[in-house]
Amino acid sequence: MVNVTRIFLLMLLVSKVIATPLTDSQNLRNNYQQVFPQLKFEDYIDGVYNLDPIARASWEEIKIFPPYEFELEAGKKMFKYADCFENQGLGISQTYPRWDITTNEVITLAMAINRCRLQRQQAELPYLQGELVQVLAYMASTSRGKQIKIEIPNQAALQAYAQGKAYYYQRRGQLNFSCASCHVQNAGKRLRAEILSPMLGHTTHWPTYRLKWGNLGSLQRRIIACHKQIRAVVPKAQSIVLRNLEYFLSYMNNGLPMNAPSIRK
Ligand code: HEC
Repeated sequence: MVNVTRIFLLMLLVSKVIATPLTDSQNLRNNYQQVFPQLKFEDYIDGVYNLDPIARASWEEIKIFPPYEFELEAGKKMFKYADCFENQGLGISQTYPRWDITTNEVITLAMAINRCRLQRQQAELPYLQGELVQVLAYMASTSRGKQIKIEIPNQAALQAYAQGKAYYYQRRGQLNFSCASCHVQNAGKRLRAEILSPMLGHTTHWPTYRLKWGNLGSLQRRIIACHKQIRAVVPKAQSIVLRNLEYFLSYMNNGLPMNAPSIRK
């Protein structure tokens, strides 16, 4: 009996040490399922609006005339990158970020567009808002309903994932919070006027129009805003740190349908 218990404990220990992305993702989902038994998997794509009926009511009203429409239209007009991507760049957003086996790094769709521009001797576009984000919004809109599908093809990619994960759970800033402190351990709870959304659902709807911004912004822009909230050092847009973080986050959102662009407070 004692031996069986010891073997079991040993297996538990080993499984913790070699936790794979798949078990990470299953553990996270099980955790949320216990906290939010009322939510179906797909519900997570609407973030806090499934946890806050009052906020949901005004959100539904804003959605009748979505404030991102003009930018989305502009993005469609400015989309001239078809020949840089498979399937003319349409319906592919849910497969980014990707591991790039030639440069050995995580590449986001935003970066891929700027690479395309560089190949054509065009200047790179800024990452957080404006033309590039509008183009991303158009591309993402052609992926609506498609499930996020992030792949981790090799050991180097796994390492990038692990770095992103470590960053997510590491405490930082004057307030000494990790991303997980708010979006995992305290998801669903109130922080001053805000209800904290779960990490599941965090990557399906970008670019998003935030009322606070008054325009469309990228996922990294939102992540940078969270750094400022806790008075932490802000990493640069598209730095390796933020790309690896986005890779981890997106992997954890695998299987959820895309619904970009969307609207948030
Ligand atoms: C002090 C708490 C706190 C910390 C720490 C924090 N956030 Fe947030 N975050 C918020 C609040 C509040 C919002 C807005 C309400 C919501 O959707 O949760 C938000 C929103 C978000 C959103 C947008 C959610 C949506 O549905 O559009 C993302 C993505 C996000 N945070 C990622 C991160 C990441 C990544 C980190 C770590 C670098 C982080 N946050 C750290 C409080 C926090």
